[in-house]
Amino acid sequence: MFTPQSGILPAASSNGLFLLFRRRLGRRADAELKAFFATLPSKADELAAAHPEAQFCVVLGFGAEVWPEFYLGEKPELLRSFPRIPGAIHPAPSTSADVVLHLRAERYDLLHEFATMVVQASSHCLDVIETTHGFRYRDCRDLTGFVDGTENPQDEARAQVALVGSEDAAWAGGSYLHIQRYVHRMETWNKLPVKQQEAVIGRTKESNEELADDDKPLTAHISRVVIEENGEELEILRHSLPYGTPGGDQGLYFASYCKTPANFEKMLAKMIAPTSDGRVDHLLNFSRAVSGAAFFAPSREALARLAK
Ligand code: HEM
Repeated sequence: MFTPQSGILPAASSNGLFLLFRRRLGRRADAELKAFFATLPSKADELAAAHPEAQFCVVLGFGAEVWPEFYLGEKPELLRSFPRIPGAIHPAPSTSADVVLHLRAERYDLLHEFATMVVQASSHCLDVIETTHGFRYRDCRDLTGFVDGTENPQDEARAQVALVGSEDAAWAGGSYLHIQRYVHRMETWNKLPVKQQEAVIGRTKESNEELADDDKPLTAHISRVVIEENGEELEILRHSLPYGTPGGDQGLYFASYCKTPANFEKMLAKMIAPTSDGRVDHLLNFSRAVSGAAFFAPSREALARLAK
């Protein structure tokens, strides 16, 4: 039996805090850092138990480059760097991030407290390179005004989609995590009539219904990311949240969990490169990615092995 980290499967939270870390020049992950990370899930449990109403949960993940320093000689079968997609028209930058911390809760103060503790305890090896506070906007809408997350898998399908199973038994209960920070061009978007916004997304804005096939352009976001293979739709579990400051950068912090990195990679390729049918995602006329990284979030049991 393997236990996924606490932040992967639960339903969407009101607050998310995403921290990307890079290994300090010349430093390797030492025994102290590994021992600290091995106990991170139980530290998170303690905080969650002290404030049950906050539904605090956490995910820690490692990138492909730093992986060998944490787990000598063993690696999840499909762990690889963030994809570089041939023919891409819209760039999908790859950030050299080695470790990710994804915290979620109904209370932001607990996220701040926990993240501060992690940053201090790991500072001899890791530098923080990006910190983003995501928040729930209205009824789970992206800042474009469209509800985000509707077609996420529900109930037991969440684990089936997000968690590695017996196909890679040594890493069962773990999950491939991709993040991208998107900056929206809000002024341009807000000038676009709602009918045209709906054609860009592929759903209605107020009532959040999928457009009929005849009304849904092949360039709509939904048309790009819905991919059928052998009669089944590829799925990912998204935990994206809006972020930003008034007058500063604002957009969507995209985050997805899956039992394979391939689903995200195929969806992103259909969004940014015209190689499949000559089209790309028109949402990207209004938003661009400024960071991107790929990680594996090991099961709690695999994290505990770091202490040995
Ligand atoms: C600017 C960035 C993005 C925005 C604003 C955005 C917004 C949305 C919205 C509003 C929906 C419709 C509601 C829903 O089902 O959640 C949606 C669906 C979806 N998005 Fe995105 N998204 C973004 C980036 C991405 C990326 C990078 C991927 C994957 C590579 C992705 C994958 C999906 C998937 C799989 C669905 C569900 C499609 C369905 O089954 O109907 N999105 N997105």
